[in-house]
Amino acid sequence: MGVELMNASMLERMRASCQLAAKTLLLVGETIRPGISTEEINTLVHEFVTDHGAYPSPLNYRGFPKSVCTSINDCICHGIPSKKDILKDGDIVNVDVTTFLPSKNGFHGDTSVTFYVGEPSEEAKLVTETARRCLELGIAAVKHDARVGDIGAAIQEYAEAKGCSVVRDYVGHGVGRVFHTDPQIPHYGKRGKGKRLKAGMVFTIEPMINIGSYHCDLQDDGWTVLTLDRKLSAQFEHTIVVTREGCEVLTARPGIAKHSEDLPWSDLGPLSCPAAF
Ligand code: MF3
Ligand code: CO
Ligand code: CO
Repeated sequence: MGVELMNASMLERMRASCQLAAKTLLLVGETIRPGISTEEINTLVHEFVTDHGAYPSPLNYRGFPKSVCTSINDCICHGIPSKKDILKDGDIVNVDVTTFLPSKNGFHGDTSVTFYVGEPSEEAKLVTETARRCLELGIAAVKHDARVGDIGAAIQEYAEAKGCSVVRDYVGHGVGRVFHTDPQIPHYGKRGKGKRLKAGMVFTIEPMINIGSYHCDLQDDGWTVLTLDRKLSAQFEHTIVVTREGCEVLTARPGIAKHSEDLPWSDLGPLSCPAAF
C-alpha cells in the first residue's frame, strides 16, 4: 500500500490536532517540577486533552493503560505514568503527547519533549541537547523527492559525532487517521537510500538518543523500554508534512519556526527547562 498524501482539508484538521498536542506540552512544561509524580502529569494531560474535545491516543492503545507516556532517565520510551514515580532534581523526563481530535474523520497529532527537572548533570544536558538537535537536523533533511535515508543519516552522523548512539528498535512513523502507519522513519541510515519523500506525506521524526549503547531492554509490563546499560536516554518528536520547499512542522509550539526553510530556529528556549517559564 502506498503512503497516503494529505490534501489541504485533511491538513487543516491535522494541524488542529497537532496544535492541541503542542499546547498540551506547553502546559506540562509550566507544571513540571521536582516532587510531582508522573501520575499527576497523566491527569493534567488527560483533563486538558478531553476538555478540548479530543481523546488522548495512548489510552487503551494496544492495551496501554494511561493517557500519556512519561519516560524518566534511562527509560527510552513508553514509560507508564505512576504515583510511585516522583520526579526529583536532576532527572530528565520525556513527555510524549498524542491527541486524537475527532471530526468527520479524526486525526492524531504526536509530539514529545524531554524536560529538565531542576538542574541537569553534564551527561543529562549532553544527551538531551543532542537529541533536540538531532530532531532539528532530521527535519532539515526533509523535502519533496529527498529520501527516508537522508533523515536517518543526518541524525546518526550528529549523534555519533557527539559520542551518543541512536536507538534502532523504535522509529518515526506515518500518522494521521491512524496512530502508527507507513512510512517507517528510522533515525539512522544512509543518504540517498530508502523511499522517496513526497509533498503531502505526514510522519513523525522522534529520535531516541542514548549516552551509552543503543540496545533496548523491554520490561515485563510489555511497554516500558529501558536502555540495556541503564545509562541516560533522551527524545524529541514532531509531526511534519513534506512540502515542495522542505516541510511544515505541524506540532510546532508558538515561538518556534514552522517551516524547515527557517532553520536554524530556536527551539532551545522555554521548553528546555521549566524554570524558564
Ligand atoms: N507516542 C508514541 C510515539 O511517538 C507512541 C506511544 S504508544 C503508547 O509513537 F501506547 F505507548 F502510548
Ligand atoms: Co510517534
Ligand atoms: Co509520540
